[in-house]
Amino acid sequence: MSLTTDVTADHVYAHGLRNQWHPVVPSHFVEPGGMRRVTALGEDWLLFRTADGTLSLLADRCPHRGAPLSLGKHLGDRVACWYHGVEVRGDGTVASVPGLPGCNLEGKKLVTSLPVREVAGAILAYFGDERHPEPAPLTLPEPLTDPDIAAVLCYAEWNVPWRFAVENLMDPMHGAFLHHESHTMYDGDTQAKFRIRETDRGYFFEKTDQRGVNFDWVELCRTGVDWVDLSIPYPPSAGPGGPFGIVGMACPVDAGRTGVFFWRYRRVSGWQRDTWRFLYRTLIEKRHWEVLEQDRVMLEAMPADADGFENLYQHDLGVVRLRRLYRQQAEAQAAG
Ligand code: FES
Ligand SMILES: [Fe+2]
Repeated sequence: MSLTTDVTADHVYAHGLRNQWHPVVPSHFVEPGGMRRVTALGEDWLLFRTADGTLSLLADRCPHRGAPLSLGKHLGDRVACWYHGVEVRGDGTVASVPGLPGCNLEGKKLVTSLPVREVAGAILAYFGDERHPEPAPLTLPEPLTDPDIAAVLCYAEWNVPWRFAVENLMDPMHGAFLHHESHTMYDGDTQAKFRIRETDRGYFFEKTDQRGVNFDWVELCRTGVDWVDLSIPYPPSAGPGGPFGIVGMACPVDAGRTGVFFWRYRRVSGWQRDTWRFLYRTLIEKRHWEVLEQDRVMLEAMPADADGFENLYQHDLGVVRLRRLYRQQAEAQAAG
């Protein structure tokens, strides 16, 4: 996780911003008693879970000579490196050096471990830099923590730079074109004017003259983790709960790959909760994947330097503002 002074703002911008939380993978990617290698922010990590469910995220690098710990063996509360058997606990401390008992590596915390949280089926981790190892305060998205809201996670990996995935969410107008042939975004005006509305945690990018018809607004929320909130109108046949909310997040896997997290949520409780989940699983989820596929196909087909050769117009103000925020942050982190 160490950022050295020769890391450029371009590198930070390409691989993911530091000093904040990011989603990593869905929780079910690592079952109790299991472990798994994951890549995030261009680095390899080991997700390690004990039988009681306690989760750790360790640098996937043995403190002895650098072999991937993920090739090793799960020993319950620690992992044994395959190469020479050095054992490391979930907190990154060397538990034992079997080949040389009493070796001075024992008891030392030699492996980076990141703070982790789990919410609504996803694992989040804090990625700091050398000057900010302590986790930033984290406020989880309220649609994922409110007991009267039921949220279902859809996760996918796209071969796109992470910024393309986030910019796509800050660009509501694509709903009326890219998703025109979909079950939810066929309606509404294909012309619009947009405005930015600042909030204390980010900003709205919204149409000035249409709401509740198509993908008409989005809010960027920076609450220790970056996420967006948006809503898509839904026909009554889709069951109780009114409009259909989406919380979106993106994991910068590396410079060319992104994990996208979309929670579809509705304000439902009691029996409505079960009805909504059932309807979602049986009727709606498949259609949603079809819509997501349209985004994936478009974004993966765009050249990686697409944002170097553009002619923007009023509908792109939300994207421009996002880039300015992220660019400033990347520059500050590189300068440090
Ligand atoms: S490299 Fe892991 S024990 Fe030697
Ligand atoms: Fe889309």
